[in-house]
Amino acid sequence: MKIIIDTDPGQDDALTILLALASPEIELLGVTTVAGNVPLAQTTENALKTLDLAGRPDIPVHAGADRPLLRPGVTATHVHGRTGFEGVDLPPPGRPATPGHAVDFIIRTVMDNPPGAITLCTIGPLTNIALALAREPRLRERIGRIVMMGCAFSEVGNITPAAEFNVYVDPHAAEMVFASGVPIVVFPLDVTHQLHTSAARLERIAAIPNRIGPVVAAWLRFEKRFEATKYGTDGGPLHDPNTVVWLLKPELYRGRQVNVQIETGSPLTMGMSVVDWWGVGTAPPNAVFMREVDVEGVYDLVVERLSRF
Ligand code: BDR
Ligand code: CA
Repeated sequence: MKIIIDTDPGQDDALTILLALASPEIELLGVTTVAGNVPLAQTTENALKTLDLAGRPDIPVHAGADRPLLRPGVTATHVHGRTGFEGVDLPPPGRPATPGHAVDFIIRTVMDNPPGAITLCTIGPLTNIALALAREPRLRERIGRIVMMGCAFSEVGNITPAAEFNVYVDPHAAEMVFASGVPIVVFPLDVTHQLHTSAARLERIAAIPNRIGPVVAAWLRFEKRFEATKYGTDGGPLHDPNTVVWLLKPELYRGRQVNVQIETGSPLTMGMSVVDWWGVGTAPPNAVFMREVDVEGVYDLVVERLSRF
């Protein structure tokens, strides 16, 4: 399957890219970057570094939006560190970003392929995707699906009491994406907060006998420093990799077709994902919203794929 990863690396974003590269079922056509965990220049540099680490400097990296559509930018350096990659010092990238804006790359790639052929894997704020949909409305019928890390339902927010980070940063973009009619599969905090990066799981990853395992373990160890303390769990959540893991093994997850809308008006609940889990509203379903996950199955797959490098 052909995918584009739209991302704001971020340690867990980098692991997502690595999992895609380790998987012959997936053809990663390109990586598009967006401002999120850290500013755009840094997310772009981190995407380039990740591809260098994997020995894949042939994959294009297109820089995209450097700020949300309407609201001021918000970063998550309290979780990911100043560089977004704290925990491991990787060498500077061996190349600059590929010329051309991320939005143009997304439009061109989707339009040049048969309808439905391209999966967009979105693991950062949705600014690039909303801009692409606005600029080329035919994308609504052409994008095969959007597989998204974002939203929250049961425990609600990780950046405000009401909102998950990716949606909160650009709620207007997220609302445009949910209103687009493109099939969407959502991996919310409900799923990601079940996947604790426990000491035992990180040791399994660190022990992978190649250059990738120890780097990923060090990244996740840094990410968990803030989150494990905050949530009082043995390990932090594992967010973005669920998107690629699901593409490889959908049977590891269970969810429901529901309507999801995003709050864009209230200062108190800005970016809240309003999920009609019980079907009490009148708006039709627009997404598959995951809630259950086979935790050990996910970690087994992560270890198995990273061992392939
Ligand atoms: C999301 O925010 C970022 O910090 C992570 O990379 C993930 O995409 C979790 O809310
Ligand atoms: Ca991310």
